Amino acid sequence: MKNNKISAYAPASIGNVSVGFDCLGLALTQPGDTVSIENGTRPGIHLVRIEGDLGRLPKKTEENVVGVVIRSMLERLGRYDAMAVTLTKGLPLKSGLGSSAASSVAAAVAANAFLGEPFTKEELLPFAMEGERLACGAAHADNVAPALLGGITLIRPMSDPPDIIRIPFPKDLWCAVVHPDAAVATRDARAVLPELVPRDTAIRQSAYLAAFVTGLQQHDTDLISRSMVDLIAEPARKHLIPHFDEVREAALRAGALGCGISGSGPTLFALCKGKRSANRTAKAMGKVYNVHQLACETYISGINAEGAVLL
Ligand code: HSE
Repeated sequence: MKNNKISAYAPASIGNVSVGFDCLGLALTQPGDTVSIENGTRPGIHLVRIEGDLGRLPKKTEENVVGVVIRSMLERLGRYDAMAVTLTKGLPLKSGLGSSAASSVAAAVAANAFLGEPFTKEELLPFAMEGERLACGAAHADNVAPALLGGITLIRPMSDPPDIIRIPFPKDLWCAVVHPDAAVATRDARAVLPELVPRDTAIRQSAYLAAFVTGLQQHDTDLISRSMVDLIAEPARKHLIPHFDEVREAALRAGALGCGISGSGPTLFALCKGKRSANRTAKAMGKVYNVHQLACETYISGINAEGAVLL
């Protein structure tokens, strides 16, 4: 195993899912990032190649999420392996699709296999979260948990490691995703958030989150739809996203169950009942940007139940 090239793929994810700021996330099937590890010629982690980032990501181990994640694993194990690492970005940077999380998770899964599987998949979560700390200034797990484990995950962050709760979901739940040609850094999008939330807002948001999770578990799409409300991040962030209200309205008119900001944006996502509805919704959302002559990419995806995989 140790002399072979090991590659792992981790998918895009939607953090917050509108209703659970910093504590709810879901995994898409594509796009995603791949990390490959081969034996290096000298001890240490050497990020020898980054593809698909248009030269934007740093290669220094301590400045790249991939290096930071693998280093935290080696430190925990007290090992000094020689690793030549390649990162292939399939995800756009600063898109709100969990780009840093996908790289972090792919790095953790590839390194774990390279090192002979010292950790379970679940045990990789805290290492992957170190990548988020570097990229966003906060070690939130709403992207890394679904990118690693798949499905829809609820994070209870009050313990170390945090509790990760996998929420059952209807199999015909699909996502329509539109990524406009704009970049929003998560750090900047966090800087505009309110420091305090009024009591009434906190109460209503808790009720929405509980109802949403119940809707997922009971396959109640009407309840899912009624509960997809973000009273905390969306009002503070939507001005960062081109034509937010218009795109959202187009998604709802096309039949989506709900629509909101994917993670910290600028990508918008809509939850839909079935693939056909997701197709129709993605087209409607993309059309808004076409009309405004702003380039965008649209994706549709079911919920990825598997998460990160070895290739
Ligand atoms: N929960 C994080 C945020 C996700 O909204 O800031 C970042 O992708």
